[in-house]
Parts: sequence; C-alpha cells; structure tokens
Amino acid sequence: MLVDSFGRVATDLRVSLTDRCNLRCAYCMPPEGLDWLPKPDLLTADEIIRLVRIGVERLGITEVRFTGGEPLLRRELVEIVAATTALLPRPQVSLTTNGIGLSRLAEPLARAGLDRVNVSLDTLDRDVFVRLAHRDRLGDVLDGLMAADGAGLRPVKVNTVLMRDINQHEAVPLLRYCLERGYELRFIEQMPLDAQHGWRREDMVTADEILGLLKDAFDLTEDDPRERGSAPAEMFLVNGGPDRVGVIGSVTRPFCGACDRVRITADGQVRNCLFATEESDLRTALRAGAPDDELAERWTAAVRGKRAGHGIDDPSFLQPARPMSAIGG
Ligand code: 5AD
Ligand code: SF4
Repeated sequence: MLVDSFGRVATDLRVSLTDRCNLRCAYCMPPEGLDWLPKPDLLTADEIIRLVRIGVERLGITEVRFTGGEPLLRRELVEIVAATTALLPRPQVSLTTNGIGLSRLAEPLARAGLDRVNVSLDTLDRDVFVRLAHRDRLGDVLDGLMAADGAGLRPVKVNTVLMRDINQHEAVPLLRYCLERGYELRFIEQMPLDAQHGWRREDMVTADEILGLLKDAFDLTEDDPRERGSAPAEMFLVNGGPDRVGVIGSVTRPFCGACDRVRITADGQVRNCLFATEESDLRTALRAGAPDDELAERWTAAVRGKRAGHGIDDPSFLQPARPMSAIGG
C-alpha cells in the first residue's frame, strides 16, 4: 500500500497524459501557452500502462483518473483506458477534460470501459469564454458534455473555477444549466497553480462567497458529511434534493488530512501532492529496465514523504515550479 508518515493511504491515482492543451484558461496558462515537454520525455502508452498496472496490482490503487493538460489530445487515450479497465481488481476509471473533442471520443471511451468524466466549464457566455480561455470553443465544450451524457458516462460532473470580475456572476446560471441537464456541478476555489504565478488571494472567489451567490437563488442544505469521505467537495442538496452541488474549498477549507491521492506526471514523475516541491523520478528507472518490484518500491518511498498539507497559508509557502497543466488536475 501507498502509506505516508501521517497514516494516509493513497488509493486514487491521477495520471497526466500530456501537458499540452488547446485552451489557455487564465488560472492555468498564459495566452501564448508554455514550452511543452519534449516528446522523448513523455512516457509512452506502454510505459503509462505498466505504471498503472503496478499501482493497481501491487499498490492498492482503486481509482484511476486521466488528466492533462488536455488528455483528449493524447492519441493513445482509448487504448490506455481500455488497458486500465482490463486490470484486476478493476479500478474505477475517469477522465478530467475540457470537453473539446469529447463529441467524437465519448462513445469510443465508453466502449473502452471509461466510467465517468469531469468536464471543465467556467462560463455559458461565448465572449467570457474567449476572454477566459483565449479560444472560441464554448460550442465544442457544450457539445462534448452532451455527448458524454449520451454515451452513458454518468453522472457527468462539471468543474467550475470562478474568477472575480470575469465569470463570478455566472454561478447561478451555470448551476441552473447543469441542473436542467442532470450534470453534477462542483465549484473549485482558484489555487495558486497557474504558470504565470498571477494568483492573488484577494482575487480568489472563496467557498463562502460561492455559497452566498448560490443561496440568493437556491435553497441549499448540507448533504450528509459522512458521505464525503476523502472527496474534497462539500456537497449541498439543492432545493431539498435530490439534485446536488459541490463546493471545493481547496484553499479556505483544505482537506489535506483526508487526502488519498497520488499523481504521475506526463514525464513519469511521482508527485505526492499538487503542491509538492519535489518529485520522484520513475521514468529513468523504468527505462533502465527496473523490474516491477523496484518501481513499486520507488513509488512507495515517494508517497511516504508526503507533507501534512499544502501550506498555502504559511508565510513560507512556495508555489510549485510546475503549473497545473504539467502536474495533472
Ligand atoms: N485552481 C483551481 N482549479 C484549477 N483547475 C486548473 N487550474 C486550476 C487552478 N489554478 C481545474 C480545471 C479543471 C481541473 C483539472 O482543475 O478547471 O477542471
Ligand atoms: Fe487546458 Fe485545463 Fe489548463 Fe484550461 S485548465 S488551459 S483546459 S489544462
């Protein structure tokens, strides 16, 4: 098992398949994009599948989520998903995507055994979308959401990051849109993970503010917190239920004490936390012909050293050198 020195057990593996993306969300990347990882540094599909297999077969991973950058840009995605859903014990397999390309890929992914998707959607307004993501692709995202639902990748979950004076006014319309279509919406507080280091605490729309905005239009009651487990979202019943909305207070209501996640970057580094300042290289050992045992041991050691929390509130907090797009959400 992947246990850290605080007794937390990592069972939820997030694998970044590429650091590239076809959007430029302001809370993630600068408009001009980033220097992408060179191709030889990226794990091959076979290398990814091998690490995922070791995680599932030897290390107690029960949930695998593929992320990016934008994972739909990875050509071998369907093959990687199929190999993952064929593992025993069969892990839950999901995808965090911006939705672009999902209208084409939702069906093949569902056939490969994909269980669910989380689609990022921050606005319903084309102009705001262009301002926020620097590409005119809102229509593709909405089509992608519909396709995911149509392919049975349910419940379709939607992630929204609100930014002050950009899309904050859309909290209520976004929730209405999702409720009407049966999508489960989660609002995520903006974290200091953007490549351009532009995060300011004052600009962050906090969980309290989000709840305030929603309560103007909906009756919210806290859902049974026992159901939360290690899930970061605090869930609320909307107008008495059964519809729900989630709020993820990553910064103001940290859930590090219950964290069960571990990450592998697209270039084969284990990260025990989004905010870790160190990574453990698995790729070099992998390519030097290390057996499964050795890779499992390196991975276990990497998780053992996980820190207690992200420490965003510590005066000594340092934003990680890698942005979200290179870590995986
Ligand atoms: N803060 C909060 N959420 C973020 N995401 C990307 N960058 C940030 C950030 N700085 C979200 C995306 C996507 C998921 C991968 O993480 O909106 O839904
Ligand atoms: Fe792309 Fe996701 Fe970053 Fe937006 S948040 S630029 S969709 S990787």
